[in-house]
Amino acid sequence: MSEAKIIDGNLFSERLRQTVAERVRELRVDHHVTPGLAVVLVGEDPASQVYVRNKRKRAVEVGMNSFEHTLAADTTEHELLTLIAGLNDDPAVHGILVQLPLPTHIDEQKVIAAIRPEKDVDGFHPWNVGMLASGGVGMVPCTPFGCLLLLKDQLGSLTGLKAIVVGRSNIVGKPMAHLLLRESCTVTIAHSRTRDLPAEIGQADIVIAAVGRPEMIKGEWLKPGATVIDVGINRVPAAEPGKTRLVGDVDFASAKAVAGAITPVPGGVGPMTIACLLRNTVVAAARLNRVALAGGEDWA
Ligand code: GUN
Repeated sequence: MSEAKIIDGNLFSERLRQTVAERVRELRVDHHVTPGLAVVLVGEDPASQVYVRNKRKRAVEVGMNSFEHTLAADTTEHELLTLIAGLNDDPAVHGILVQLPLPTHIDEQKVIAAIRPEKDVDGFHPWNVGMLASGGVGMVPCTPFGCLLLLKDQLGSLTGLKAIVVGRSNIVGKPMAHLLLRESCTVTIAHSRTRDLPAEIGQADIVIAAVGRPEMIKGEWLKPGATVIDVGINRVPAAEPGKTRLVGDVDFASAKAVAGAITPVPGGVGPMTIACLLRNTVVAAARLNRVALAGGEDWA
């Protein structure tokens, strides 16, 4: 059998960011609204600093306002909640993102619940979680939404397909399963206690890998022709001493010989997350200002 098609997340996300930029222009010119994204970072985690810098850069590129709040690692929960209350009330801010993980002395759930649901562009607030689960209209978490866009671009209708989500996190696994269910897939959620994971994966037309374990899912486990979306970003030692490289949760080399299509790491799901964050911010700005965008909300 021929090798899998490599799904190009860089290209797809670039196109999506271009569409976002067009919608930003429409909001600015026709409605005098400049979408604003506030990103809050507490502490000095180097990976989080890189993510936040990228989010800011991409937001400015599409013509949005970016408001960055960098707080010391010893910021109290009360101080953070006070900042969020101010952002909730600020009409120039349409999206609020608090970068996770937070320092351990701060209650993450309490912070997420303090964000006004309409401005919760991460889709982590219990109201948005409930909306996704009950078929309502809320904010959808960025990474699973990006995975869904790639899947639909690849497969068209997902109706009736068997999908397995490996991983049950609140950020990826659980919302991903709900999104696939909304697309009329038959959905399995697998996790660290799942019995005979290879047998479960072998049934699936769609595999979403979001476990955070480097190269855990092997090509031999896959159903031939399956579409594989790899959410994992794991840093492992490279062949060269002292160097590291990024790998996904899927063993790419063996998987691409069996799969029909597969996302690479890097350059697959990663760039989709920020593009979807920008998309959510535009949607939030439109909803908060009661503006109907050209093409509605289905343009992404
Ligand atoms: N940390 C890792 N992924 C995410 C994400 O999607 N949103 C936020 N806020 N923090 C994260």
